[in-house]
Amino acid sequence: MATVYQQMATDELRQEVGELRAQVEATKAKNLSLDMARGKPSPEQVDISRPLLSVLNEDSDLFDEGVDCSNYGCFEGIPSARKLAGAFLGVPAEQTIVLGSSSLNIMQSVLIHYWEKGVPGYTPWSKLDHVKWLCPSPGYDRHFGLTEDLGIENVPVPMTETGPDMDVVEKLCAEDDSIKGMFCVPKYSNPTGVTYSDDTVIRLATMKAAPDFRIVWDNAYCMHDLTEDGDKLLNIHGIAATAGNEDRILEVASTSKITFPGAGVAFFGSSEANVREVAQTLKVGLISANKLNQLAHVRFFPTIEALHQHMMRHAGFLRPRFALVQEKLAAGLGTTGCATWTNPRGGYFVSFDAQPGSAKRIVALCREMGVTLTPAGATWPYGKDPADTNIRIAPTYPSLDELGAALDILVLATKTVCAELALEARA
Ligand SMILES: Cc1ncc(COP(=O)(O)O)c(C=O)c1O
Repeated sequence: MATVYQQMATDELRQEVGELRAQVEATKAKNLSLDMARGKPSPEQVDISRPLLSVLNEDSDLFDEGVDCSNYGCFEGIPSARKLAGAFLGVPAEQTIVLGSSSLNIMQSVLIHYWEKGVPGYTPWSKLDHVKWLCPSPGYDRHFGLTEDLGIENVPVPMTETGPDMDVVEKLCAEDDSIKGMFCVPKYSNPTGVTYSDDTVIRLATMKAAPDFRIVWDNAYCMHDLTEDGDKLLNIHGIAATAGNEDRILEVASTSKITFPGAGVAFFGSSEANVREVAQTLKVGLISANKLNQLAHVRFFPTIEALHQHMMRHAGFLRPRFALVQEKLAAGLGTTGCATWTNPRGGYFVSFDAQPGSAKRIVALCREMGVTLTPAGATWPYGKDPADTNIRIAPTYPSLDELGAALDILVLATKTVCAELALEARA
């Protein structure tokens, strides 16, 4: 679709660019400093978890189902925390490990485990000439960093409204055994907010792939609905098991955006064999995780329903922010044809796509006007967005006033760059 600027007569367009540039200069003069880059909860949101800090004190019973949480032992996690992990991930408690506070850290440890030791019966990935990994894009930059750091080649695959483009994924995996895995954020994907359709989940669980192919099923946002009737994601483990692929799925999640980012608890869930084998490696470097933190968390969330209620309190902070994004973008850009954006029902991000060749310029112009955005390109492997269109909007951290001001600036920058591109095309 042609943009409103492409449809203007050249004189009119030149005048429009002049007016937009004047608005840009006026905005710069305000010396603003706003941030829409941080995918983290606002301080008020974090505060709702403060009562967790009083759950344990010096008089507390520190046993959980016979396990002394104040001493070494119980590497896989305390019984109640493994039950919570099972409810989170949709696997039996025995197929979980509760570890540390960061799911990213678990992903890295597990990938290094396969890199060095390989899937039982197969060559360690580090000994192969070439290893590739599928990266649905736009996606999460820190995922891409994990495989890039190991020297694995990240291969982008397009994201659609139902998840990764499965025709592309199936074809690549069926034809190329050097593809050893794939990242997936199946619910409220980072940054598009898409929840994978049933068909996508089934195809991922059952498709033909290398025998040592693994899916990092990062369910970071499995509890992060904006409303009571959140998206429903099919449980992939049962489908994979029926197809004989139960070892394919490596699921992770954490309470980072539920209680305290960096100080919550993190979960791993997979087949019995994988859990046993991964635990053997991880145990070499850890006698036991912080079980007191696990105990505080399970006493704070005695049931999954209690956790859900807590998430609905988070949603109370998030809903107006996500609504403001839609309102401001629709009002500012809705009729211009300069951009499209997602409207997620949960998670932490909105994915914004501007005209080809404009995202870097928009982000730079926003910075000149005092707004920090996630760098353009960050949502693609190696920071290279081939069409230079995608920008990740993180609306959760700023106050509503700050967010509104930052969105006005994003709208102005998008219109300005879009108009300038249309004018440059005529030069
Ligand atoms: C998809 C995804 N996975 C993992 C993480 C990091 O989680 P953790 O704090 O558990 O390492 C994030 C944080 O933004 C994320 O968006």
